[in-house]
Amino acid sequence: MKPLEITLGAASIVMFAGAVLGLAPELQLGSISPPAGLKPYTLSERRGRATYVDLGCMYCHSQQPRDKVQAPDEERGWGRAATPGDYSYDRPHLLGTMRTGPDLLNIGVRQPSEDWHLLHLYQPRAVVPGSIMPSYPFLFVKKDRNLLYPGDRTLKVPPPYDEPGVAVVVTEEARDLVAYLKSLKRNHPTDELPPPVPPPEEAKP
Ligand code: HEC
Repeated sequence: MKPLEITLGAASIVMFAGAVLGLAPELQLGSISPPAGLKPYTLSERRGRATYVDLGCMYCHSQQPRDKVQAPDEERGWGRAATPGDYSYDRPHLLGTMRTGPDLLNIGVRQPSEDWHLLHLYQPRAVVPGSIMPSYPFLFVKKDRNLLYPGDRTLKVPPPYDEPGVAVVVTEEARDLVAYLKSLKRNHPTDELPPPVPPPEEAKP
């Protein structure tokens, strides 16, 4: 084969891929603006998001509740089907493909308690018996109970995970991660979804 043919062939493959993977999505979704009900992430939430990426949470958790037609995600309590606008502030998005654990795009709605999240990260089995989620003890610092600083925020750890005389101090990194988890709420109204199909009319006598 001649060099010119090879070059032209390679160039057309690259251009085709660029059109399908870059141009087409931009034309389809580029004009969508952030929904009024969606707030941008705060600095703390953004730091927490970076930790979420670092720790690989998305290898087990998706962030994309699906439509009723595809999966019973709404019945599972994971929220309405996600729309493109829901990801307006997500760069890069963290859709995920694995669902070893529940979808988290609406975890801030169903679990707003900071204490719950902190203890769950420290030791998932302390709040969900039999959980297979890994624990993240390195997001906390263990200290002698008598050597705490006045500003230290401690975690109440239930038995058998507590240790006598040891206080578990919450780090800034853990608080940021929980701030991010609590910010995951996509329950604002959206006009991007088709209107719900009305239930079939009951047969009239
Ligand atoms: C090896 C897979 C795995 C990894 C990695 C993982 N999780 Fe989980 N996660 C699970 C499973 C399984 C559950 C369900 C049991 C439970 O609640 O502990 C869960 C539950 C949760 C829940 C509660 C969800 C609900 O609906 O109640 C939150 C919040 C959560 N994970 C956050 C995280 C965060 C943050 C990370 C990263 C630091 C992470 N997970 C990493 C498997 C995982």
